[in-house]
Amino acid sequence: MALTISIGSGKGGAGKSMIIANLALLLAKSGKRVCVVDLDIGGADMHILYGLFKPEKTLTDFMTRKVDTLSEVIHTFDSFYGLQLVCGSGDTLQTANMTFQEKQRILRAINTIDTDIILIDTGAGASYHVLDFFMYTEIQLCVVCPDPTSIMDFYKFLQLATIRKALGSFLSQGEVTRALKGKNFTSLAEVFDLAGQVRSGAREKTQKSLEYFHPLLITNRVGSRAKINQLKLRKLAEKYLGIFLPELGEVPEDSDVMEALKAYLPVCEYAPGAPSSKSLEAISVKVARVINLFESKKEI
Ligand SMILES: Nc1ncnc2c1ncn2[C@@H]1O[C@H](COP(=O)(O)OP(=O)(O)O)[C@@H](O)[C@H]1O
Ligand SMILES: [Mg+2]
Repeated sequence: MALTISIGSGKGGAGKSMIIANLALLLAKSGKRVCVVDLDIGGADMHILYGLFKPEKTLTDFMTRKVDTLSEVIHTFDSFYGLQLVCGSGDTLQTANMTFQEKQRILRAINTIDTDIILIDTGAGASYHVLDFFMYTEIQLCVVCPDPTSIMDFYKFLQLATIRKALGSFLSQGEVTRALKGKNFTSLAEVFDLAGQVRSGAREKTQKSLEYFHPLLITNRVGSRAKINQLKLRKLAEKYLGIFLPELGEVPEDSDVMEALKAYLPVCEYAPGAPSSKSLEAISVKVARVINLFESKKEI
């Protein structure tokens, strides 16, 4: 079965799609079989980043049951080392209001794609859809930009993601689930406290559910002026959310990213020597190492 990787940020425009488009390409170039799934419901644009304007089939065809399997909507780019893409759905009400069952059907179908690595792009915000797609995968990448609003949104996104993950660990535990359901939690500590009050051992179980949640941090659009204190951000996440954010690297603000967008090519292909391309390449090498680690663990 393929290894699944998602990307999230909270704020739109942080560079998720740009990063996924390039990482997918670099991993495909290195010889891996890669499939990108565009789950930015309502705002799907990954195909444009690869210069594909009118996809023959999209996720909508799968959701509306025009086709039975996700493999029928996969587009293969021969010019991008055999990279594959499940194009996202357009801005239709139906996809934006997806039911729980529909969401599960998509996630189950993703698992059946015959490839090595599945990269999932998610949308802006921290809606349940976005959080569920983000938390579904084995590896999570997260993107933050140096501006204060991006950092705030990023922190809020991680907080909501951890709360959702913690709540998800109780799906099979009736009384705790009933006690936690429908409540609006503002911090992880509240979830832990209430879980502990309802049943002994529940607090530990909730905490344990986050043990393996270590989203890999990418800082994007790093300029000479706006510096982000990564260490501080990571310490805050550790202290208040109880999660360790390993650092994957930084991508500088780079005009070639926009030029590449206008040329409908990922920047790594458009300008391999550009500063952003070099950083993305270094990040892809680290991601490949993490992938190898996961794959070797799976074999044991
Ligand atoms: N490092 C960068 N340098 C310059 N422009 C960037 C950089 N990263 C992203 N952008 C631009 O920012 C915009 C938003 O990026 P995008 O990947 O669509 O964000 P998201 O998917 O998180 O909403 C795009 O126009 C993209 O070209
Ligand atoms: Mg996007």
